[in-house]
Amino acid sequence: MAKKKDLFGLGISCSFCGRGQREVTKIIAGKNVYICNHCVKICSEIIRYDRLSINERIENLPTPEKIKAFLDQYIIGQEYAKKVLSVAVYNHYKRIIINPYSDVFINKSNIMIFGPTGTGKTLLAQTLAKFLNVPFAVADATTLTEAGYVGEDVESMIQTLLINANNDVSKAETGIVYIDEIDKIARKSGELPSSTRDVSGEGVQQGLLKLLEGTLASVAPKGVKKYNTQEFVKVNTKNILFICGGSFKGIEDIISVRLEGGGIGFAAQLKKSRADYNVGDILEHAEVEDFIKYGMIPEFMGRVPILVPVRDLTEDELLRILIEPKNALVKQYKKLFKYENVELFFEDEALKAIVAEAKNRKSGARALRSIMEDIMLDIMFEVPYIENIKSCTITKEVVSKKAKPILKFHNREETA
Ligand SMILES: Nc1ncnc2c1ncn2[C@@H]1O[C@H](COP(=O)(O)OP(=O)(O)O)[C@@H](O)[C@H]1O
Ligand SMILES: [Mg+2]
Repeated sequence: MAKKKDLFGLGISCSFCGRGQREVTKIIAGKNVYICNHCVKICSEIIRYDRLSINERIENLPTPEKIKAFLDQYIIGQEYAKKVLSVAVYNHYKRIIINPYSDVFINKSNIMIFGPTGTGKTLLAQTLAKFLNVPFAVADATTLTEAGYVGEDVESMIQTLLINANNDVSKAETGIVYIDEIDKIARKSGELPSSTRDVSGEGVQQGLLKLLEGTLASVAPKGVKKYNTQEFVKVNTKNILFICGGSFKGIEDIISVRLEGGGIGFAAQLKKSRADYNVGDILEHAEVEDFIKYGMIPEFMGRVPILVPVRDLTEDELLRILIEPKNALVKQYKKLFKYENVELFFEDEALKAIVAEAKNRKSGARALRSIMEDIMLDIMFEVPYIENIKSCTITKEVVSKKAKPILKFHNREETA
């Protein structure tokens, strides 16, 4: 049991958390043990939760509506994706509650988020994990290798999850793993030249099957060396939610060929306006067979049944991304300046110019940050040593690098 140094010379500390008598409101003594009010509260919560019926536990889950409302605070647009994800995540945790008591076993439904780069795939997964307060790990499929090859083996994802769960195995077992760039492990013999790597893509897909489905993964907890296999712990992956993400560039062609082949009116319409058809509209029609054509193996797709398309962001959405989310870039810079006692303004035209530039770069919202960093660099360098600045205004000429920001100064009376 944890024992804390007795700083106040009172000799008594909680036998569970080690807090001393001065650090807590109450310590209850038993025979040679002590428990503080904090630990009593934690214990009673555990007991209370254990007593809840299945229905009560399900009622305790956040509803899809609540989940979506949280996502809305951080993710602009992607309404369809947010809705599908909210329902999927709700069902996932409901299934964890029900399965131990049910004669009908509900299968796990991992998720595939696909669509253009920089449109919020990773952000969606991260935000979900934040909301659910579960451990979260991000892995990059391109660094994964088949067992026996040099590189990260697939279990390394579970190891990261365990570390992010502070080595708490049961917590890790209800976490979320996001596997990015999943399209880069497509088979090369897929219809599109989608992958730059060789044969191993398919091998990695094979290697992931068991983890996605549920298996006992053997991983090194934090602080244990890789070769110390006898100290490895087993993490059951059956309740871990895997979210795969990838851009699947070009899959829209496979989908539209299929739709056209089926003589569906929608496809005929698409064909007419192929020049300006919206990739996002097509992606919403994606089916498992399209991913298989792309180079994913059927067994893999069978374990990732929930397909969540994301769309290219419109200029309007990019503008909103700059200003609306809880941690929007404009808010972040305003805050930074506020700590220098300078009020920062962006003219609407300046924001629009940033958006137009981002749109050009074709990397979704990802470009916003680098454009912003670039235009703010000089002024952020100068502000700390120029005295008396009251406000700083970024105009569209600043964005196009034709002018410096407009600075206003306190007059002497104000500052005296
Ligand atoms: N829909 C969105 N709403 C708000 N911010 C977004 C959105 N899409 C992208 N971003 C911003 O762009 C960055 C890159 O997005 P990310 O989720 O990594 O894209 P990807 O789809 O390639 O995974 C995020 O960190 C976020 O700041
Ligand atoms: Mg990403």
